[in-house]
Amino acid sequence: MKGIKMRIDKFLAHTGFGSRKDVKKLAWRGHVTVNGVPARRPEHHIDPDRDEVRVDGELIVYTKYVYIMVNKPAGIISAVTDPDGEPTVSELAAEETGVQGLFPVGRLDKDATGLIILTNDGIFTHRATSPKKNVEKVYLVEARGELTEADAAAFKARVTVEGGYLCREAKLEILTAGPVSTALVTLTEGRYHQVKLMFQAVGKSVLSLKRVSFAGIRLPDDLPEGQARPLNEEELGIIAPYLSED
Ligand code: URA
Repeated sequence: MKGIKMRIDKFLAHTGFGSRKDVKKLAWRGHVTVNGVPARRPEHHIDPDRDEVRVDGELIVYTKYVYIMVNKPAGIISAVTDPDGEPTVSELAAEETGVQGLFPVGRLDKDATGLIILTNDGIFTHRATSPKKNVEKVYLVEARGELTEADAAAFKARVTVEGGYLCREAKLEILTAGPVSTALVTLTEGRYHQVKLMFQAVGKSVLSLKRVSFAGIRLPDDLPEGQARPLNEEELGIIAPYLSED
């Protein structure tokens, strides 16, 4: 980044001040200063390493990597763009935070909901999705059929799913059991349709699937579906071992 100039509206959008439209308004209204001088033109160029940018007096530090969490609603594709024009998590994150072009770390099915992290840190993405790292994912599952302790034992003993794949040991914590049951499932792998296939292997079918935790980061109760926010310091600390060092 050294010596590179960028537009102030892009800089502010990247650092989470809303969409390019939002940050243009901030500039026009005189909330933004560069080296102590109001910068009202969104096309004003700055050097993020040298210039001191403040919004309402607060110093804004440019960081190369951005980490955003999204509470994905059903109907959204876990991708940057979709060839069929379906809405994606990257577009949702951009609308919510103003940061464009972030890619999702792993994927959730179109009908699944819950926690998905987006970033421009390719090293983090690689590490957090590598099966070698044993990163834990926790899902809240609603399933048709009565879950039993035999199912929990089967998950622990490793189930073989359709196609013959032998899953890793998984934890099944039954919350309610009946014609429709609910449970928390903890996995250390993330194969395509994995939870759905595992439930099918024990004679149940998944009715809804929500990811409630990823790599030790919990989906916060105060982040409604369809909303996004940057990871906070505590959450960044949790995933620190996987983050890019540069
Ligand atoms: N397992 C699934 O079946 N679907 C998901 O989206 C995630 C895990």
